[in-house]
Amino acid sequence: MDRYDTLARLEKAAARIKQVSLSEMFLADAKRVDRLSHRMDGLLVDFSKQKLDGEALGVLLDFAKERGIADFLQKMNAGEAVNPTEGRAAQHMALRAELGQERFALGQNVSDQIAANLTRMQNLCDEIRVGKFTGASGQKITDIVHIGIGGSHLGPELVLQALHNSADLGLKVHFVANIDPAEINDALAGLDPASTLVLVVSKSFSTVETLTNARVARDWLRSGIGESAIAMQVFAVSARADRAVEFGIDPAHVFEFADWVGGRFSLWSAVGLSAMASLGVDVWKEFLTGARAMDAHVLQTPMAQNLPALSALISFWNLNFLQMPGRAVIPYSARMGLLPNWMQQLVMESNGKGVQANGAPVQFTAAPTIFGDVGTNAQHAFFQALHQGPEPVPVDFIGIIQDAENAPEQHRTLLANMLAQSSALMVGQTDQQNPHKNFTGDRPSTSILLDALSPYHLGSLLAFYEHETVILAQLCSINPFDQWGVELGKVLAVKMEQRLAGSAPSGQDASSENLLDEINKRPNDGAE
Ligand code: F6P
Repeated sequence: MDRYDTLARLEKAAARIKQVSLSEMFLADAKRVDRLSHRMDGLLVDFSKQKLDGEALGVLLDFAKERGIADFLQKMNAGEAVNPTEGRAAQHMALRAELGQERFALGQNVSDQIAANLTRMQNLCDEIRVGKFTGASGQKITDIVHIGIGGSHLGPELVLQALHNSADLGLKVHFVANIDPAEINDALAGLDPASTLVLVVSKSFSTVETLTNARVARDWLRSGIGESAIAMQVFAVSARADRAVEFGIDPAHVFEFADWVGGRFSLWSAVGLSAMASLGVDVWKEFLTGARAMDAHVLQTPMAQNLPALSALISFWNLNFLQMPGRAVIPYSARMGLLPNWMQQLVMESNGKGVQANGAPVQFTAAPTIFGDVGTNAQHAFFQALHQGPEPVPVDFIGIIQDAENAPEQHRTLLANMLAQSSALMVGQTDQQNPHKNFTGDRPSTSILLDALSPYHLGSLLAFYEHETVILAQLCSINPFDQWGVELGKVLAVKMEQRLAGSAPSGQDASSENLLDEINKRPNDGAE
């Protein structure tokens, strides 16, 4: 059977499924929950509220086989050039592999490099936490200003916020991503330069936002303590150590990671240094161990029970066969507020592509429009549209079983809300008298329950979403590891800035020229 047969079967299955409601599917199959719920080490993923049945899933699994998903994952794990447009490996799994195991990237053994880097990270974190490493004036480091954006920011801040409770925080971390000066100004306000370490995180070490903020922080250290603070208190994490050194950072303070780690997948490298320093080395190791467990799962589990593969197949199905282009991500955990943002970058920057890996136009959409917020806040913001808007949006509900706050009643209410929302979306309600009170129901969701918001389970969850993203890309024949789509805007930003500075002639599109004129008309002297 060739691929086109399978696509025709998928179309046919979708036409049939569209006629059957989720509630009817539950009635038709008493074992539906069992069949579509899967467990892995303290993680329960329930796909039973997604719009597919055994037959549709069977065709999707055939498609996964044709697309060589299992093979692709093995190749990625072996360090082959799975990023063909840049000729690179994508070895984020190697960063969380058991130490001592041999790992390769494009045939080169990278195990020693990974182990050495981890040891350096641990040593620095331990030394800072016990006060052995001090600032230029001998003071203990109490704060880290982590400067980085996108993949060099979202993961570490998410992990730190989420695991806040798992550790006796050794250090406070202040994240600065935006070029908006308000962010760095707010971060530095109230900090003592004598006890602050500045960590500049940038894979390319050429990102305008990061370099600009790094200069501001460097000047702040210089004027607070003097030149000696620059050498002692500024560190960098980058795949371009040469550029970090050129920027003026002591080579001994540069933590390198290789170009075989994609920016969106770099949390597990030294990019996580500030989170590790704050949470402590043991917490960080547990976090890596949880991700490693998910790696073992994705590599060893048959597709029919493979959590990231099933989630990717369902996303592929919703996007391309059930015409649902959105996806809401709702963690019922105030500490996981950054999960939707992290996923937005992971999925949309990886998979928002118009051409396949071979350059031909895409046949499928690989990136849902991801948005989200924490439950229950989201219920009071955009859930109205999820329940009654004309376009169904699949939702990921993420709940934590263990109450970490010692507030069982409140925690129960939180979980009850999550269950109520996914049920309401599916079951709906008919009010014959009042159309405003009608809920169509039949709106799909996946529910994920974590035993606890522990480092281990968080590691597994984030690795789950990483693998899902890569598998979804592979189903759609695209390369998830490049991001050329961010470049044009960067080039135009330089031109716009020159126009705003009065150093370039007009020549942009008419709308932009009008906006430029509007801005240039006003004096920009910092006055209100
Ligand atoms: O948005 C483009 C991008 O290159 C992302 O892929 C990346 O995570 C972010 O900018 C930051 O890049 P860097 O780590 O090189 O500063």
